[in-house]
Amino acid sequence: ERDYALDRDCKTLSRHVLEQLHSFSPDAQDLSALMNRIGLAGKLIARRLSRAGLMEGVLGFTGDVNVQGESVKKMDIYANEVFISVFKQSGLVCRLASEEMEDPYYIPENCPVGRYTLLYDPIDGSSNVDININVGSIFSIRQQEGDDSDETARDLLQNGHKQIAAGYILYGPSTMLVYSIGRGVHAFTLDPSLGEFILSNENIQTPTHGPVYSVNEGNFWQWEEPLRDYIRYVHRHEGYTARYGGAMVGDFHRILFQGGVFLYPGTVKKPEGKLRLLYESAPMAFLIEQAGGRASTGTQDILDVVPDKLHARTPLVIGSTEDVTLVESFIQDRA
Ligand code: AHG
Ligand code: MN
Ligand code: MN
Ligand code: MN
Repeated sequence: ERDYALDRDCKTLSRHVLEQLHSFSPDAQDLSALMNRIGLAGKLIARRLSRAGLMEGVLGFTGDVNVQGESVKKMDIYANEVFISVFKQSGLVCRLASEEMEDPYYIPENCPVGRYTLLYDPIDGSSNVDININVGSIFSIRQQEGDDSDETARDLLQNGHKQIAAGYILYGPSTMLVYSIGRGVHAFTLDPSLGEFILSNENIQTPTHGPVYSVNEGNFWQWEEPLRDYIRYVHRHEGYTARYGGAMVGDFHRILFQGGVFLYPGTVKKPEGKLRLLYESAPMAFLIEQAGGRASTGTQDILDVVPDKLHARTPLVIGSTEDVTLVESFIQDRA
């Protein structure tokens, strides 16, 4: 009888993308190759993380502050460079926009043939790196519109429906890559002995409700009152459990599979919140909607938000439909 394990091990990431696009669309080969390069970046970052404690120059801070005003980790920079190196040789991507770079990085030799832009958060959850708790990388792929000859990348300031593909890599007990090109959400697990991401979950659908609420309650007194009322509600009602890991990718991954809601609300002082739209909230919103869930600022669908600048931030409420809608009901009652 057929060796099931052999068939499974042949369901690699690049193969899966071609199947998704039925191999005929002109983008199929490009997107398959592009996703493969993302996988290579993930393997390089996973390898570095797995040895972080044993090598010089991996843990700790660089001493610099990035455009976000955050103290930069050495791993932030290494991972940022990995994506640039991987795509420099790819011929597919001619612009990279990252949390760690004020302006996009251009690869002129890839243009105009390379027509994709990669937007990414090279290490999500940097605060976890030095204590060996899971971190992630988040990516979003858009099509460059026009030639961006003045290198202002204004065409990136469009809503999240413009995304062609989105996903993340979760560096956990196993390294997983989760992606969607608009035909469902699929998860792959890295088999280090093969160096391949093998399909482990296809067409993931998030439950319409789940027990988890994921938020940093340390900010409770900085929130607007409706958010405090929502938290008081979940404190009073049976069936909720709090999980917050400090890396959105890990908290999101739990909710994708088990349901629930992740929130990063705005505060009175910073009503726009902390998370960046173009390479954190919008790719995650793309995924959760493909998985049957929702993503909102609290008053507007994340995918409808048009950023005014590359590093624009928005509040985020994301996860199971019922749970996101419940949070919105507290906010909109007061509106
Ligand atoms: P990053 O490490 O890419 O800057 O993102 C960290 C984000 C997100 O991953 C996480 O959920 C959130 O910041 C944690 O913020 P707080 O420590 O303020 O809760
Ligand atoms: Mn950061
Ligand atoms: Mn992040
Ligand atoms: Mn980051």
